[in-house]
Amino acid sequence: AYPTSVRIVEVGARDGLQNEASVTTEQKITLINALCDAGLKNIEAGAFVSPKWVPQMADSTDVIKGLGIHPNVTFSALTPNLKGAEAALDVGIKEFAIFTAASEAFTQKNINCSIDESIERFKPVVELAKQRGVKVRGYVSCVLGCPYQGEVEPEVVLDVCKQLLAMGCYEVSLGDTIGVGTPNKVQSLLTLLLEHISADKLAVHFHDTYGQALANISKALEMGISTLDSAVAGLGGCPYAKGASGNVATEDVVYLLQGLGIDPQIDLERLAKAGWAICEALNKPPVSKVSLALKAK
Ligand code: HMG
Ligand code: MG
Repeated sequence: AYPTSVRIVEVGARDGLQNEASVTTEQKITLINALCDAGLKNIEAGAFVSPKWVPQMADSTDVIKGLGIHPNVTFSALTPNLKGAEAALDVGIKEFAIFTAASEAFTQKNINCSIDESIERFKPVVELAKQRGVKVRGYVSCVLGCPYQGEVEPEVVLDVCKQLLAMGCYEVSLGDTIGVGTPNKVQSLLTLLLEHISADKLAVHFHDTYGQALANISKALEMGISTLDSAVAGLGGCPYAKGASGNVATEDVVYLLQGLGIDPQIDLERLAKAGWAICEALNKPPVSKVSLALKAK
């Protein structure tokens, strides 16, 4: 059965913009404030990663400092190590996101270590979070395929998820980093995971490279998953996953949920406007079909 309420984690300002060189700090602030005004309650606002690796996120401190006051919104940020976690705490971040993968090759390219080493590296980050009353979300990339090794075993995904939950993540987000999954693969993976992990500890994070994200979300919802990651206007792509396109568009997810009778309490018009504004800065139209349809009306 479909869940009765769904939580959307908006990742456009991070996943969406980490690959885009031309966006100013001011434009990011405007985007995030607009997302808050549209009703989004969970917003990934930046990444405290090495500026040598992802220069696009180097202004995360200034972005988060520049945001308006939004008491009902939880802002999270990527914190791959203690250095990132400390920088995030300095600007008042209340939720960390640590990230690894179910593929050794991808983990090496993305965070320059093995999966086991990444887990070791996260331990002090989670410790610090506990001391400071900060929640920690875990990401597992490549859950339905890897740009370097191809097939990924669901058992490996399960193992990494278990380790992240055991160390203290309140939730693990399952990343189809390169958008290769289809609903039958989502079903097999979730069938295995749900034998060991309750649905309220899992989120899905679909990139839409092959146009399967909404179908995959529909399958995940049917299986009881109630946290969905998405990016306004379908922005995005991972710099360490060549050819990977954006996350599923938040506008499209909201429309789907409304159609299913699940009210995500988001103002779709305002959301679409926020998407058009950032896309103007990027000089390309939104990838969201819903956004294009609303504009054409
Ligand atoms: P490293 O080079 O192995 O680390 O990088 P290091 O400790 O040797 O540090 C190298 C340099 O970076 C040093 O500077 C550090 O100070 C600096 P130097 O001494 O040479 O001048 N540094 C930092 N600076 C600022 N903030 C930090 C930080 N850490 C080190 N936190 C590291 C290891 C993990 C840092 C690096 O590989 C990295 O930053 N990777 C991030 C990659 C990334 O952001 N990828 C995209 C996000 S993941 C994603 O998109 C997938 C997801 O969406 C889910 C899905 O779709 O699957 C989440
Ligand atoms: Mg992603």
